[in-house]
Amino acid sequence: MIDCQGKLAVLYEGQGDISAYQQLAEKLQLPFYQSFNDDTLENFFLSWREGSLSLIDRNNLKSSLSVEIEHRPGEQLSWPIAKTGALAQALGRKTKTVVDATAGWGQDSLAMFRMGYVVLSLERSPVMAELLADGFKRLQQLAWVQQLNLAPPQLQVGNAIEILEKLEFKPDCIYLDPMFPPKRKKSALAKKSIMVLRDLVGDDMDKAELFSTALKATGKRVVVKSPDYAEPLGGKPNESFQGKLLRYDVYLK
Ligand SMILES: C[S@@+](CC[C@H](N)C(=O)[O-])C[C@H]1O[C@@H](n2cnc3c(N)ncnc32)[C@H](O)[C@@H]1O
Repeated sequence: MIDCQGKLAVLYEGQGDISAYQQLAEKLQLPFYQSFNDDTLENFFLSWREGSLSLIDRNNLKSSLSVEIEHRPGEQLSWPIAKTGALAQALGRKTKTVVDATAGWGQDSLAMFRMGYVVLSLERSPVMAELLADGFKRLQQLAWVQQLNLAPPQLQVGNAIEILEKLEFKPDCIYLDPMFPPKRKKSALAKKSIMVLRDLVGDDMDKAELFSTALKATGKRVVVKSPDYAEPLGGKPNESFQGKLLRYDVYLK
């Protein structure tokens, strides 16, 4: 089942092997266009730009979004980087394995990968999963990743509720960052990538069930990232760590 019918198409921009675009459109059951046309109804397009599978907004065809695999500005250029900050505190000092059950643009999975955690990323949107797979493939090709012989996060496509129920190991931590409704209708503070994600996949209405499944499936803890205005997803957490406009709630098993 495709989650983006009517909203998204694959767009060939005249460069590279056209068959890769056709195959992607077929795999995701999306319309395929060989050039941009004002008559197209879709608001978003998938295309490869500078070697990255990218999501393009029809209102701003020049800019595009793809899974960002480089270190963040100011971050140590080494691996693993220091486990500091609210995310690392929430994950816990003894944690080694993490299942990121709501991978999205992969930014949290990749932050955890850079800190040296072993990460399994789950994503149910086939479109987001394609963007992630492309990002993880690019990561694998980076010189420092090859030199250190590192494996990027593993990606599994599907509903995390079902995957976690059948998980064959107990991760130290299951990490959840579901989509919460925005505080205001159009939040000026929301990042472009998250606004686009909300347009494409909508709010995650089953997050309470995801939380209870995660608590059963985890070995030690569940960490929930939420906007600072949102009620804790699983009731009163054991601990909370404050980030910028967000909170990491920790539930111990
Ligand atoms: C807010 S985004 C996550 C952003 C992510 N933490 C990042 O760093 O880019 C939520 C994502 O979780 C996915 N998702 C929500 N519930 C899910 C579920 N039950 N199984 C798998 N993926 C899920 C959505 O499709 C969406 O891509």
